[in-house]
Amino acid sequence: MRDGFGRDITYLRVSVTELCNLRCRYCMPAEGVRKRSHEEMMTREELREALCVAADLGIRKIRITGGEPLVKKNIVSICEDAARIKGIEEICLTTNGTLLPRLAKSLRYAGVSRLNISLDTLDEEKYAGMTRVGELNEALEGIEAALSAGFERIKLNSVLIGGWNDDEIRPLAELSVKWPVDVRFIELMPMVDRGVFGRESYVSCDRVTEVLPELLPIPHNDGVARLYRLPEGQGNIGLISPLSAHFCGRCNRLRLTADGKVKPCLHSPLEFSIKGLDPEGIRQQFLAACAAKPERHELLDHEHMSGANRSMNRIGG
Ligand code: GTP
Ligand code: 5AD
Ligand code: SF4
Repeated sequence: MRDGFGRDITYLRVSVTELCNLRCRYCMPAEGVRKRSHEEMMTREELREALCVAADLGIRKIRITGGEPLVKKNIVSICEDAARIKGIEEICLTTNGTLLPRLAKSLRYAGVSRLNISLDTLDEEKYAGMTRVGELNEALEGIEAALSAGFERIKLNSVLIGGWNDDEIRPLAELSVKWPVDVRFIELMPMVDRGVFGRESYVSCDRVTEVLPELLPIPHNDGVARLYRLPEGQGNIGLISPLSAHFCGRCNRLRLTADGKVKPCLHSPLEFSIKGLDPEGIRQQFLAACAAKPERHELLDHEHMSGANRSMNRIGG
């Protein structure tokens, strides 16, 4: 699929649930999420069908997201299904990591090629405060479990929040020295329920290069992050700057939500429903979403929030 601006669409982010075992303040509305009826959500069979159509249309990489994908009971089977589809070269998964001690090995056997794990702080109290219900140890044990299961090129995602974790840039970055993982700092994006985050919470990724002047730039043209490395690092440091330097020109992705809507862009309100459609109907909706892909998202900052009318847990990041 090629969109109206010449971008090849080869990457589909697939949210498999809106639910999560944590309640991160920048992602979930304060009241939590209403569990929706099964009829409203994509079934395993519908998902497999949709992924087959997507692969036929040129999707080569799938990233499974949520909510938290590992709370989904049949997550291992969903990954197995996806890995068997002809044309799909990579199955990746983004998780908060807390359920990996139980699941890392099965996911690897199921054919998941790469994991991205969220970790915003190394301070137990701050972790409990931001996630409302989580324990830091569980996330750290999850990372260790992913490493022992043999996953390579693991990426840790830290959303930068001014006045909260911008004093932890160095210790978070140094995880790339301790472990063979990439550490990526992500600018906080203002989604519908911005909650308590005011102007001071929106910190540019430039703060990272100020705090870590020894970072060595790594030239590349892959993915959404600018890459660096600490001199003694085993993995890279990535900077993802949707606010200060958006990467829409290189965007190669569509999204599929857990309730069966194809989204042309993270920050667009447009949605194309595939729930209940036959393969030809699904194909038409993917093509329509691709054709509707905007050239770029509107300006995002503390005053201009995302045009997506969903919170992050209902999109999948
Ligand atoms: P890789 O496959 O490893 O390159 O992962 P990824 O960066 O595509 O996915 P991940 O789920 O780890 O997301 C990292 C951050 O990038 C999250 O904060 C996402 O919300 C954000 N992100 C992912 N896709 C987009 C996008 O299309 N636009 C914007 N603005 N942000 C995105
Ligand atoms: N801004 C930036 N990143 C976010 N994520 C969730 N909400 C936001 C937001 N408002 C991140 C999560 C996870 C990834 C899928 O998206 O921390 O790592
Ligand atoms: Fe759950 Fe991830 Fe959202 Fe946190 S960011 S509440 S871990 S889905």
